[in-house]
Amino acid sequence: MSTIKQQITEINQRFNELITAANDADALEKIRIDFLGRKGKLTDLMQALKALSQDEKRDIGPLLNNLKVELEALYSKKKIELESNQYQQEAESKSNFDVTSYMPNTLRGSLHPYTYITEIIENVFITMGYEIADGPEMEKEFYNFEALNIPSDHPARDMQDTIWLEMPQMLMRTHTSSVQIHTMQNTKPPLAIVAPGRAYRFEATDASHDYVFKQCEGLLVGKDISMANLLATTKTFLQAIFEKEELVLRVRPGYFPFVEPGIEIDIQCIFCKKGCSTCKQSRWIECMGAGLVNPHVLSHCNIDSLEYSGFAFGFGLTRLAMLKYGINDIRMLHNNSVEFLEQF
Ligand code: DAH
Repeated sequence: MSTIKQQITEINQRFNELITAANDADALEKIRIDFLGRKGKLTDLMQALKALSQDEKRDIGPLLNNLKVELEALYSKKKIELESNQYQQEAESKSNFDVTSYMPNTLRGSLHPYTYITEIIENVFITMGYEIADGPEMEKEFYNFEALNIPSDHPARDMQDTIWLEMPQMLMRTHTSSVQIHTMQNTKPPLAIVAPGRAYRFEATDASHDYVFKQCEGLLVGKDISMANLLATTKTFLQAIFEKEELVLRVRPGYFPFVEPGIEIDIQCIFCKKGCSTCKQSRWIECMGAGLVNPHVLSHCNIDSLEYSGFAFGFGLTRLAMLKYGINDIRMLHNNSVEFLEQF
């Protein structure tokens, strides 16, 4: 009997020592198994109790029960303590996480300058009530030339060196002006569209030319449309593109078979006061061709030129992007170098 009492004291002592030293969940679990588990020290003592006499049981039983309650309480207390420590450590490590810290070698995506400028162009015209139009890049000669009042023997064909396809009368469109014809064939006036897209020329590549580039065509057809409407519209657009309210425009006569009269619109150089390489020392930057739609073009699309009139304009979207973003080599826009694109 005395040995059981002794064992109770020993177990109590040992348990206290171990539980004080335990500093993680694994150590605690091992103590639970060794002392309170099904084959643990306390259970062994409980079994030993069964062999004792009634008197002894009366004497030892309560001691053992107290021991059990005590050990279990110590175990629970330690468990809560360890769990709350762990929780606190995790919270601390999270609060130390620096969301602004720099992570090397992460690639961030960005939009291509073409995408940016196309969005600006489309938004300006959408606010003026225009729709965005599209047309094929592989085009019939009729849409690229004939219907735009450029017959096959017309010298204006030489203005645009053409990439012909190995199919009769098929070519890569030399300008987005062909979208005018598709639009007028499919929509009754009044109509107003802009058509950004690719154009192709049979040309050698250098810093300012590529065989493929981007243009944007604009067309408005309605009643009593005049040069004043054209100038107000193009000025609003150029102010928005260059983000400059006080932009100075210059209008010169220009020849394009699909408009009459035809004009060229320049802006006063926005980069210098006395002349620079961008304006080639002239103080003026050529921006677009435009004019009032030639009545022949309207008739090709079955629009009565006595009832309706319109204006059209076209500009090099590639050129405007290069001007706006200060890009001095067209090849940078087209070769998709990540180093270049990352800047946008
Ligand atoms: N298509 C012409 C070009 O590629 C640009 C142009 C000029 C479009 C005058 C027009 C216009 O609509 O009226 O150079």
